[in-house]
Amino acid sequence: MTQDEQKRAVAAAAIEYAPIGSLIGVGTGSTANYFIDELAKIKHKIDGAVASSDATAKRLLSHGIEVVDLNNVDDLSVYIDGADEITEHLHMTKGGGGALTREKIVAAVAKKFICITDQTKFVDILGNFPLPIEVIPMARSYVAREITFLGGQPALRQNFITDNGNVILDVHGLQILNPVEMETKLNQITGIVTNGLFARRSADILLLGTDEGVKTLRP
Ligand code: 5RP
Repeated sequence: MTQDEQKRAVAAAAIEYAPIGSLIGVGTGSTANYFIDELAKIKHKIDGAVASSDATAKRLLSHGIEVVDLNNVDDLSVYIDGADEITEHLHMTKGGGGALTREKIVAAVAKKFICITDQTKFVDILGNFPLPIEVIPMARSYVAREITFLGGQPALRQNFITDNGNVILDVHGLQILNPVEMETKLNQITGIVTNGLFARRSADILLLGTDEGVKTLRP
């Protein structure tokens, strides 16, 4: 299977985890887009969706799926999203699409996080994919200096502003041996809105696209 076929396969497999008669949290990116296309086929069986980005909200609406504000949601049973890297412990790097803050918020609310990725995202150690960090614009230089002290090389993502009006630093050169510790450290730096490590709230299930079909992994 090609990478794209694997993405489509895991998106289709994720439909089993979308409970009938409930709201579904929906991620951002090309794999999540395939999931939205699948969700559209059962849209009459769900109550609607919570979107993790403006782009996802737009795509959901274009399929006639109602988008509900997270503030009006008491209970979200599931969040389904892709990742840029994921380990066997289901720790992830996310934010390649720049939607990490809203993704982390929806993931925090959801009872279950189902990650859907193709095989290329499955890694032994996080860090080969540059770690995205959303930063308040006036803190950009300060945060970049602090990240350098942690051993990373930050690069400002060019011509990109997040849905929240902030900038992204993509941090190269980190070998993230302890993702929970690194996520916690980064959370302490003033000016960082969100870092792209999803380790404190990792995924509960990974649907991994492989040449042999979709594999289901748990931590
Ligand atoms: C967006 C994300 C995406 O989940 C991540 O970038 C994976 O994207 P794709 O499914 O296109 O490979 O975190 O902010």
